[in-house]
Amino acid sequence: MNTKLTLIAGGLVSAILVTACSHNIPAEEISKAEAETPTVYYSMTEIYQPNFQGVADTAFYAYNDDGELDASLLTDEQWSLMKESAEVLRDTSLAFANEDNIRVAEPGEELFNEGQGFIPSEAVQSVIDDNPDGFRAMMMYLSEEADRTLEAIEARDAQALSDSSDALYSACKSCHVAYWYPGRK
Ligand code: HEC
Repeated sequence: MNTKLTLIAGGLVSAILVTACSHNIPAEEISKAEAETPTVYYSMTEIYQPNFQGVADTAFYAYNDDGELDASLLTDEQWSLMKESAEVLRDTSLAFANEDNIRVAEPGEELFNEGQGFIPSEAVQSVIDDNPDGFRAMMMYLSEEADRTLEAIEARDAQALSDSSDALYSACKSCHVAYWYPGRK
């Protein structure tokens, strides 16, 4: 092969590679970014809190003026809001239950409650790093409770819904006591 031909061939190969790259790598990176579990801080403020409210605050509308449960008081929109919220809680918790690298916050990022008697993000990180399996187990537990919530929603069972929304709250709380402010309750 003469040099000129090699150059042309080489150019062709890299042209093909470039085309292949611009096609493949960004897509891969996008799906990797999507697959990465967000920080605990981001998840708690942007995912857990609003979606917990989506279930629990909405479920409250099932109570009539006499404080009795009545599933017919909930509208279709409210049932679907609760379903979507419970699905997000289940799926995010499952992602954490399978996450090897649990990150509390971005480097230098301060937790909202920091300085108000709670511990800083590095301290929360080290509590998690001491027992990441326990953290994952509690996330698995929350995802199972969210599954039970979904069953109650599917059945349009107000009592089961109310019970499971209490159980969700306990699942949040027990992890907070263990991993957020251990020993402080
Ligand atoms: C497996 C552990 C775990 C579970 C389950 C959990 N959390 Fe958290 N949560 C944490 C940790 C750790 C922190 C402290 C770090 C932080 O602030 O992000 C926290 C902090 C928070 C904060 C404060 C965020 C801030 O810093 O301002 C809120 C709000 C919150 N969680 C809501 C919830 C709700 C609602 C649920 C249940 C639906 C829940 N969490 C379930 C571990 C958990």
